[in-house]
Amino acid sequence: MTTLTIRRPDDWHLHLRDGAMLEGVVGHTSAHFARAIVMPNLVPPVLTVADAEAYAARIVAALPEGHAFKPLMTLYLTETTDPDDVAAGFASGKVAAVKLYPAGATTNSQSGVRDIEKVYSVLERMAEIGMPLCVHGEVTDPTIDIFDREAVFIERVLAPLRARLPGLRVVMEHVTTREGVDYVMSQDSGMGATITTHHLIINRNAILAGGIRPHYYCLPVAKREVHRLALRKAATSGDRRFFLGTDSAPHTDPLKESACGCAGIFSSINTMSCLAHVFEEEGALDRLEAFCSLNGPAFYRMAPNEERMTLKRRDEPVAYPEKIDTGAGPLTVFDPMFPIHWEVD
Ligand code: DOR
Ligand code: ZN
Repeated sequence: MTTLTIRRPDDWHLHLRDGAMLEGVVGHTSAHFARAIVMPNLVPPVLTVADAEAYAARIVAALPEGHAFKPLMTLYLTETTDPDDVAAGFASGKVAAVKLYPAGATTNSQSGVRDIEKVYSVLERMAEIGMPLCVHGEVTDPTIDIFDREAVFIERVLAPLRARLPGLRVVMEHVTTREGVDYVMSQDSGMGATITTHHLIINRNAILAGGIRPHYYCLPVAKREVHRLALRKAATSGDRRFFLGTDSAPHTDPLKESACGCAGIFSSINTMSCLAHVFEEEGALDRLEAFCSLNGPAFYRMAPNEERMTLKRRDEPVAYPEKIDTGAGPLTVFDPMFPIHWEVD
């Protein structure tokens, strides 16, 4: 048996939802992760610092007994977001970042940004105070092929934004392409990127070859193999600009297994086991800690966790449930399609 001890990890991009689903999933994150950047795309969205405070209290109330976990709250950027509210929330530590959803890009993004000019007063203030902007980096232009939407976003939105506000600290969330990786690597330390567990493991064949598999559908959609390989290289490189954001995004089975299924993959339960497998395959187990526990805090200017997590590699595969029951309904767990040998101790 091999063991690996790292600092306790954080998840820099997570969907916890609310109500019964929150109750059903939060303990799977807090069992392993000390902190998580919590996405604000609830219905209705988390728009103000007061909304974020109330949501944080619901998250903490839903934690299992004895779990120590700090939700790092985000605000959902709209064309009417108040720069003063954002700045006050950041100064008080009640919010850690603002999330930019191009309107219509993904789940519950209808209230997002249509015209970026209308949010510049907020972005300028964020640049002044050093507050990170988390970006869903896909254009919504219906004439752009879904597999090209990330690369086109960089060209049309992200590069001009960085040129105009070079002091703004930006996280390109769930980067899925070689173009995205190359762009981030061409930038300074004010630019970071999260990478999900599933995008390191699946390419688009998982969704489409041999039948439609809705549990592998997420946004940004998984791309060709060359892109997966570029993501693996970036994640396992130790480069400070890349860190874990699982984008674990629970939707119940009826909502996934539908003629128009929701985007999202639920991976909180087995993410650390899957990542240990990936980093072992890449000969980079010594860099798992940088990706999961060091690079994210460095970007967010927070101290890394002091606690440690030990992972053990067992000879026999570890059994994970195919589904879990939540009060909101059955929820399928991400299946990496390989036997998992790593287990969190
Ligand atoms: O797959 C996804 N699910 N991508 C997103 O951007 C949103 C998320 C969700 O909230 O379900
Ligand atoms: Zn997300």
